[in-house]
This record gives sequence, structure tokens and C-alpha cells, in this order.
Amino acid sequence: MARQTLIAGNWKMNGNREFINELMTGMKQQLDANWQSEVLVCAPAIYLPLVIDLTEDSGIKVGAQNLSHEAQGAFTGEISGAMLADTGCQYVLVGHSERRSLYGESSAMVADKFKAALDNGLVPVLCIGETLEERENDATMDVVKAQIDAVLDQYGVSTLAKGVIAYEPVWAIGTGVTASPEQAQQVHAEIREHLAQFDAQVADDMRILYGGSMNPTNAEQLLAQADIDGGLIGGASLKAEQFIAICKAAG
Ligand code: PGA
Repeated sequence: MARQTLIAGNWKMNGNREFINELMTGMKQQLDANWQSEVLVCAPAIYLPLVIDLTEDSGIKVGAQNLSHEAQGAFTGEISGAMLADTGCQYVLVGHSERRSLYGESSAMVADKFKAALDNGLVPVLCIGETLEERENDATMDVVKAQIDAVLDQYGVSTLAKGVIAYEPVWAIGTGVTASPEQAQQVHAEIREHLAQFDAQVADDMRILYGGSMNPTNAEQLLAQADIDGGLIGGASLKAEQFIAICKAAG
């Protein structure tokens, strides 16, 4: 089965009610009903109900940016997978590099979050990627494989198969420096080869998104690569025109 392209916006900690209303109105006006790609916006948790209301009947899917690995209880400030599912959202990012680097999330914890998402019927988007230093030390594949293996070792390939992978080189996130289509394709292909060692069908079916300074100018070439199945877009997802232009580049 051909892999359906997924274009996902990651709004991060941006926006307010007014901004979100405008952004969604802009997106809906420009969205073509005959959309081929799946379109997703990952909103700040507190605005999920608003975004879900605004996307009703639009075909745009809604996701969160993080969840607790715990199911419920005395975890002040945390949000569970069950709560996210209860609002009606369908996806959740796990292990975004900002969560790993700024909030100390280990790959083991990210694996537990991946599982917690699935346990609640949410599709986890497992974010992985190397720092510039790791790339310069030729450690890119070791790093991204270890981030994937944390899920594989703990929960197995059939669990991993239910999610999506987003390869986001840390040096490309929010920097305006994007991986070249060739650089990204190479990592995506090697990720798929790695998965194939566990299960060829899972490798073939797995959607692997690219993220890191994707914009309307570079999207088409990136998305044209054989193993790039979509994008995870930060900055450019906050502008309706740019985000829709990327969706259009996906075809
Ligand atoms: P960016 O962010 O598009 O602003 O680089 C991508 C991300 O962090 O998911």
C-alpha cells in the first residue's frame, strides 16, 4: 500500500484564541476538498478543544505536542493520553527535540509516552534526530537508531508500526538551515533499512516525515524524495499561506 503523505504543523508554544481563529480560518479557506495528503495541526494542549471545534468538517486532523507517560494520578501539571483522546484529538508528538533537550526526556521515557499514546487510541509521532556535533562526528545513524530502538526494545516492532516517525535534525529546527533533500533522503532510507531488519512490511509501510526549517521554497524537493513521506513543520505552520503552500507542494 502506498504511504499517504502527512503534513503536520507543530505550533509549539505560540498563539492565542484570536490568532488560532485567524490561522484556522485562513487554512480552511485555502484547503482543497480533494486533498490527497493528510493534514494535521499539533496545538498547545489548552487550545485543543478550540482547534477541534474549528476543524470540524474540514478534514484537518488535530494533535497534541506532548503527553504524560503515566495513566493518571498525582502528577501535577501533566496531561494524560486519555485526556487528549477525550478532547477528540487523534495524534500526539512524542520526544520532540525540545522536550528531550529542555525537559530532559530520555529515550526510555519517550518510548513509554509512545505506548501511552497508543493505549489511548492516539497515533504517536516519534520525533528523532541528531545534533550538529553528532552529525559532525558521523554519529547520525547511531543516534537515530538508538532513539527508535528505545521503542522497539521495550514494546516491539508491532507497536512501533502503529506510529509515525519524524526525522528532525536538531541543527535544522528553527534555524532556517534545512537538510538538503539528499541528506534527508539518505537518513530516511537508512531508517527504513533499519526497520526492515525487524520487519520488512513495517519498514515499507512506516511513514517517515522530515522536519527542520521546511518551508514553501524547499518543501517540494524534500517531499519528492522516495523515503520522505511528509513534513513536520514548526515556524511555517504559523502562517496559513505558508502551511497551505507546503500542503500543495505535497500534491
Ligand atoms: P521548524 O520546526 O519548522 O520551525 O524548524 C520544526 C519542528 O520543531 O518540528
